[in-house]
Amino acid sequence: MAYIIALDQGTTSSRAIIFDHEQNIVDIRQNETRQYFPQSGWVEQDPQDIWASTFGALQETLAATGISPETIDALAITNQRETTIVWDKASGKPVYNAIVWQCRRTADRCQDLVDKGYKEQIAEKTGLVIDPYFSATKLAWILDEVDPDRTRAKAGDLLFGTVDTWLLWKLTDGQVHATDYTNASRTMLFNIHSLTWDQDILDLLDIPQAMLPEVHPSSYPFGQAHLGRNVMVPVAGMAGDQQAALFGQTCFSPGEAKNTYGTGCFLLMNIGHEPIISRHGLVTTIAAGTSDQPTYALEGSIFVGGAVIQWLRDILHILDEAADSDFFATKLEDNEGVYLVPAFVGLGAPYWDSYARGSMFGLTRGTGRAHIVRAALEAIAYQTHDVLEAMVAESPVEIKTLQVDGGAAENDFLMQFQADILNVPVVRPQILETTALGAAMLAGLAVGVWQDLAEVARHRQVDQTFKPAMDGNKRQKNIDGWKEAIRRTLTNQA
Ligand code: G3P
Repeated sequence: MAYIIALDQGTTSSRAIIFDHEQNIVDIRQNETRQYFPQSGWVEQDPQDIWASTFGALQETLAATGISPETIDALAITNQRETTIVWDKASGKPVYNAIVWQCRRTADRCQDLVDKGYKEQIAEKTGLVIDPYFSATKLAWILDEVDPDRTRAKAGDLLFGTVDTWLLWKLTDGQVHATDYTNASRTMLFNIHSLTWDQDILDLLDIPQAMLPEVHPSSYPFGQAHLGRNVMVPVAGMAGDQQAALFGQTCFSPGEAKNTYGTGCFLLMNIGHEPIISRHGLVTTIAAGTSDQPTYALEGSIFVGGAVIQWLRDILHILDEAADSDFFATKLEDNEGVYLVPAFVGLGAPYWDSYARGSMFGLTRGTGRAHIVRAALEAIAYQTHDVLEAMVAESPVEIKTLQVDGGAAENDFLMQFQADILNVPVVRPQILETTALGAAMLAGLAVGVWQDLAEVARHRQVDQTFKPAMDGNKRQKNIDGWKEAIRRTLTNQA
């Protein structure tokens, strides 16, 4: 036995990544997945495409490397979270497209729950704010469409799963219907204190228990995947992608935090074994772990991070490559008063404004491409600042450094600006694939490739530390300008 394969099913692609026992990446294969936008603010995917692209990447990596399935110690699954799938247990066919985490179709339903006074109760039980982002109202919406009286769901003929559950069920030929604590904690149906599906919330949304998966720790022998030629490989690690990244960054102690710069940005801080229910616009979630005793994390979810650079490249066509953003941003000494608020799908943490839209401020006759590119990159850092500010207000633990990962963490300008604006050192590891690595670590711990947390952390290596270097007055002036831009963008302020 020699390898662990992590399946990383993200919002726009599915990947298979092979790690050896020294946590080196042996091979990566990737397939794009298609998104559908049937109405304004609606986002869907085909569950069969999610499965085929993931299983395809797994087969491709085995074929490309010549690695035999017999030498795989374990598989790990990490995934876009909250995305909601319902399928027919007997036929194995999805009954509706996957409703993706970004989808806003249940905004009215969520507002109705808020208006009826459920905000506090849901926050206390699930750690979450009532928002279309989470799975609960998406699941209720699908049931209202396909099984309005819940007959099939009550009989256990329909199964619900987030993407991890769907992939596990497919990999085990329909034998295992299970999820892990991290994914369950994103559904808005899971009580993060009792670690059970919450009957009060299920009743509120008319969701039958019979359709819900079993819930286990993230490092656990979930089941045997059938990899052909009678080879069975254990699926031994499962975690939502952001919690997997927190684990992959070895943020095992309270106060340790990471920020992943992907499509969005997700900043998570380990807060130990006692959940703090946020009063400053963050959510409380379950971190990935190896035991039944949960570790909790505070999370700030930013809906548009690296996606703003894709927008400059694919829609405005002012960049050929995302990597060119560094070149244009550093043509200027500073932003010269130009701010861009990328509220393309509203704003997530800490503002939670579904109806805000993108805006730009401070344009003059001299504003050019460099200003817009710089403002877009700076916006990623300012949004992270706002989330970190909320975390500091919330938690008694001081944040001494911020670990970073994800594609846009390769951008040196962004990382230096991030350190300057936070006034906190930003630490970039050598392996930016920390999501897949974290999932592989969870699986490796379950099957005994590594014995404990100290051993999995041993291989981590820092690429670069960006130290804060901005004058305090300049930092404050920058932040004040951003706060003013946010104030003028929000629609939900009194
Ligand atoms: O909560 C959504 C998050 O899990 C999506 O992550 O990497 O697919 O953009 P990603």
